[in-house]
Amino acid sequence: MAREPEWIDAGAADELAKHSCRSARLKNTQIALTFRDGVFGAVSNACNHVGGPLGDGGLDGDYIVCPWHQWKFHRVTGKGEPGFEEDCVPAFPVKLEGGHVFVDIANPTKRNKKPHDPHPLARKPMRAPGPLRLAGISTTAMDARNPRFSGSDHLLNHALEAGKKQGAETKLITLNTLKFRTCEGYFSKSSRACTWPCSITQMDPADEMDQVYETLVHWADAVIVSTPIRWGAASALYFKMVERLNCVQVDVASKEEQLIQNKVAGFIIVGGQDNIQGVAGSMLSFFAELGFFFPQFPYVAHSRGWSAEDMENNVRVVRDSKFLAQGAAGLAKRCLELADRLLKTGTPMVPMSERGGMKGRANPEMMERD
Ligand code: FES
Repeated sequence: MAREPEWIDAGAADELAKHSCRSARLKNTQIALTFRDGVFGAVSNACNHVGGPLGDGGLDGDYIVCPWHQWKFHRVTGKGEPGFEEDCVPAFPVKLEGGHVFVDIANPTKRNKKPHDPHPLARKPMRAPGPLRLAGISTTAMDARNPRFSGSDHLLNHALEAGKKQGAETKLITLNTLKFRTCEGYFSKSSRACTWPCSITQMDPADEMDQVYETLVHWADAVIVSTPIRWGAASALYFKMVERLNCVQVDVASKEEQLIQNKVAGFIIVGGQDNIQGVAGSMLSFFAELGFFFPQFPYVAHSRGWSAEDMENNVRVVRDSKFLAQGAAGLAKRCLELADRLLKTGTPMVPMSERGGMKGRANPEMMERD
């Protein structure tokens, strides 16, 4: 039954007509106010997906495009885009009077959420039966048509071979061959805008970062990430991947669930110059925040040092070194042994109730003081 109208003056029509889409607050009601082809529209400002501010988006014809993950709603009726009409946000009656736009905030239509098919990655991580699984992630960049010797790839291959000899299934992901977008900062819009699976993955079926997510979250028991050292840091491709893995860390911090459970990570770091400890520290810190465990001595590394710019020698040393090859094989063995032990425990090693002090976990004592 319609309620007594409560018409609220949203402002002068000629001023409001200058914006095709904007957010507005009318008393306590947040709306997305739109103007197109001489017609004003007003719908709820909260998107049906995870509450993105529709008025901060733009128009695609008569549909508002949510700025967070691009779901669309009709700007006048609130209905979802074709195929999702029943997935609708509340729409408010609008009238023009005396050159002003009025919105009846007492009589919106009903919000109705129609489930969208979840992304395949969104399934609950469940380890499928089978032998131990070891993934290698190569993060070095090179011209595929004109390849060069890579020390970090070389040692990663030794590690994967050793894993195979131990009876593990292995898989190599070479970031250099994947086409994936750089993180576009959805977290900077809102922590809820940075979703699991990644917002870009959900919107862009051509983006190939899904292969990394599938491997880390669903497939692997252990992962070894290899990187060259570039100016004292891991490679640019490593950081491009890490930024896109933010959604995994956000999921750990914000929800009562852990995507990464009882999994192990190790690292291979090879550089012409130094700062191995710094690179290893950064990699260990990030993968620890994702929830990975580490074996004793969790990385193998090599560098020639600050004053040695003789890269030909560096390549020769890594390529011919039995010592380093054995080191990479030993790392794979330690990673798989720990993964095996963790799998045998069967339960998460770290109960969620013990998460106090974690990144992104608010401290209730501080909130009481604030
Ligand atoms: S599409 Fe609107 S919040 Fe995700």
